[in-house]
Amino acid sequence: MTPREECRCWLRGASSIAVLTGAGISAESGIPTFRSSSGESALPPLWKKFRPEELATPAAFARDPVLVWRWYDWRRGLVARAKPNAGHVALAELERRGRRLTIVTQNVDGLHGLAGNRDVHEIHGSIWMLRCTVCGNEWNSMETPLPHIPPACPCGGMARPGVVWFGEGIPGPAWLAAETAAVTCGVLLVVGTSAVVYPASSLVPIARSAGARIIEINLEDTAASNLVDHSLRARAGEALPDLLDF
Ligand code: OAD
Repeated sequence: MTPREECRCWLRGASSIAVLTGAGISAESGIPTFRSSSGESALPPLWKKFRPEELATPAAFARDPVLVWRWYDWRRGLVARAKPNAGHVALAELERRGRRLTIVTQNVDGLHGLAGNRDVHEIHGSIWMLRCTVCGNEWNSMETPLPHIPPACPCGGMARPGVVWFGEGIPGPAWLAAETAAVTCGVLLVVGTSAVVYPASSLVPIARSAGARIIEINLEDTAASNLVDHSLRARAGEALPDLLDF
């Protein structure tokens, strides 16, 4: 049996499937990843010189809110134009066919929901959410580009992106759902993530300790590759439709 055949067999037989996704699943929708340097993930020169750890932090925002907002405004524009790709669609099809499927995503682009998945936990939040740094008010705005940078709350306070930054905790309910999915699944699919950002990356050893089969889909070796049963070197948009076609 080839690795792919064995993976298909595990997926077909699993009573529940959990999926941990990262930026790589959305790369084929035209949204650049954070840590790849080539292909559809390549960043334009303006943003190439910044690492995510230099923009997606409370300290970066305190130092230069306009720079951080320009970066998010640019990403919001890309996300607004993006459509779910064959990888997202294959996961949505599986749920539509009645399989128990929980998606835990580090992505803030909302593409799993747009594809049609219902059991989705966005552990890093949503790029469309804004939160007031003064009164804590949260609201959804899909306006792009933003008319004012930095945007303001009706109270006059400055708004920040309503996403989870480095050094901040994942909201309790989202994390509880993520851990539960990892502990209870028969198979964990790890798709398009470098698996270097904690605590999302810890879901792989958590699922492994709980006895799940683990399948990775990625273009390259990652921090999780040595913890998984099979690591498939493939694009998510090609491998997911193929693996989930049963
Ligand atoms: P990364 O940019 O770190 O990793 C993307 C992964 O996707 C890499 O391992 C690529 O090899 C892989 N990849 C690229 N294209 C692919 C494709 N078509 N099919 C399959 N794999 C592909 O993204 P994340 O792991 O999601 O957090 O990064 C985690 C977190 O770091 C993000 O949620 C964000 C970021 O900073 C915050 O902003 C807090």
